[in-house]
Amino acid sequence: MDIPFSRWHPAIEKRRSRRYFDPNLPLAPETLAALDKVCNQFVPFPHARSRLVTESADSVFKGIIGSYGRIKNAPAFIAFIGNISDPLVQEEVGYTGEGIILEATALGLSTCWVGGFFRAEIAASLAEVSHGERVLAITPVGYAQQSESWEERLMTGFARSHNRVAISKLARGLPREKWPDWVNPSLEAARRAPSAANRQPWGFDVQADGITVFVRTAGPEFNVSKRLDCGIAMLHLEVAALDSGCKGKWEFLPSPQVAKFKTRS
Ligand SMILES: Cc1cc2nc3c(=O)[nH]c(=O)nc-3n(C[C@H](O)[C@H](O)[C@H](O)COP(=O)(O)O)c2cc1C
Repeated sequence: MDIPFSRWHPAIEKRRSRRYFDPNLPLAPETLAALDKVCNQFVPFPHARSRLVTESADSVFKGIIGSYGRIKNAPAFIAFIGNISDPLVQEEVGYTGEGIILEATALGLSTCWVGGFFRAEIAASLAEVSHGERVLAITPVGYAQQSESWEERLMTGFARSHNRVAISKLARGLPREKWPDWVNPSLEAARRAPSAANRQPWGFDVQADGITVFVRTAGPEFNVSKRLDCGIAMLHLEVAALDSGCKGKWEFLPSPQVAKFKTRS
């Protein structure tokens, strides 16, 4: 499936993690069908996929020890699944999963990436993963409660969720005055990406023929790979690049680099 960039670009701006859902607003069959369709069709890499689960969603979030945000009343969840023998699985799952998150946002739904601290065995069984696959992260999906509860507001403040590092601190390489037109909106979209605990581990090396995404920050991973966060930023970068008329191709690179978005000349 081609990236529906003009539909997903505005969703980047709109998306916010939401954790409390309205139990009185179930998902309509056509909305579920649309979610299921994007899960089945947005599969840019052979070893990463997404699976919508509509039963027992609360059971994967309930009583999560160590999770910093509780999820309540989710009518469904989506599992982001990868084949763990693939060395690129983290960035591929991040990129793929964020496509599903942006489509859910475009459908008017709320989501929240949850990595590390959900009930992985229950999620794996409900999502029917195959041998060699693992659920790397999940998201609840549904209609959020209209106003944020005090617990949600506390959480948002705790993770300083709306703060983002300035582009000037994230970008290196070509000086700004030499950037082609597509670069600034693409970095702006990439820096708005969600990341675990809002740690924003990415950096961007701007070159004449593209942008390399790399892991900028040192320090522990805390259960969620920084490369997964970088995969999310990669999708945002490409969505905005496409919307600016710039097509490219990802080339994966060894750590601490993640991948280069190489423009087609
Ligand atoms: C890979 C990943 C894992 C996350 N894990 C959790 C989690 O376990 N619990 C939680 O409440 N939020 C989790 N989040 C949500 C982040 O805290 C949130 O995206 C970040 O604070 C930025 O806020 P925003 O999504 O509203 O822009 C995770 C986000 C990502 C990308």
